[in-house]
Amino acid sequence: MPRTRPAPIVLSVGGSLLRSGDPARDGAYFAALATLLGRVGRQRPLVVTTGGGQTAREYIGLGRRLGLTEVELDELGIEVTRLHARLLAARLGPPTPAHPPASVREVVAALAHASPVILGGTEPGHTTDGVAALVAARLRAEAVVNATDVDGIYSADPRHRPAARRFDRLDWEQLRAMVVRDTSGGAGQHFPFDRLGVETLDRAGIPLRVVDGRDLVNLGRALRGERFAGTNVTGRAR
Ligand code: UTP
Repeated sequence: MPRTRPAPIVLSVGGSLLRSGDPARDGAYFAALATLLGRVGRQRPLVVTTGGGQTAREYIGLGRRLGLTEVELDELGIEVTRLHARLLAARLGPPTPAHPPASVREVVAALAHASPVILGGTEPGHTTDGVAALVAARLRAEAVVNATDVDGIYSADPRHRPAARRFDRLDWEQLRAMVVRDTSGGAGQHFPFDRLGVETLDRAGIPLRVVDGRDLVNLGRALRGERFAGTNVTGRAR
């Protein structure tokens, strides 16, 4: 009888987790994250997207001063996300591809031989959250895990509004309303989870788990489908 392969899982790591401004802290984080991803990736097919964070915003800001177009600014952002993917992939070593796949199609091909597969951005106009969602839809993934620098989705930004409350569970309509409220679509903006990601996962009926990626024990739980602290976004597929 054929052995059933566990369903793939897709992780989107926010750039703010990868570049804090403190090289010693970032080195330790990359190393510990790579260890966790290697372990989970051996148990099931795992795809990871890496964000560009503050570094991407710095390059996009510089490009904007130089009068670059929005598409050119997005392309700068993509280069930074790919740099972060390369760092993580190189730490993991073969068979994880050292050169991050540049499209969803390339991810599918790479995953036939390696897990985890790490990539950055692909096309101008969205973020690595959107890439993670597109990959998940193509792979019929069990879930997307979004690792960020807050421990879930709040009613308002908890860094500025101490009274904001964390949602344990949201449906897609609620998350869509929050994303639309907080974004206008320019290059380098900071989204809770990007619009393309919300639309793609809602259509595909794939749940989203939002967790604090600084807590690698909790991140491991979210990746393995165990109980985790954070926000679960679910809803009926349309
Ligand atoms: P990020 O995915 O890092 O976006 O891509 P972000 O919203 O800044 O997320 P955090 O802060 O890392 O969590 C950085 C920028 O690169 C461009 C966009 O301009 C994005 O804002 N980008 C990225 C693309 O145009 N396409 C992609 O597929 C990925």
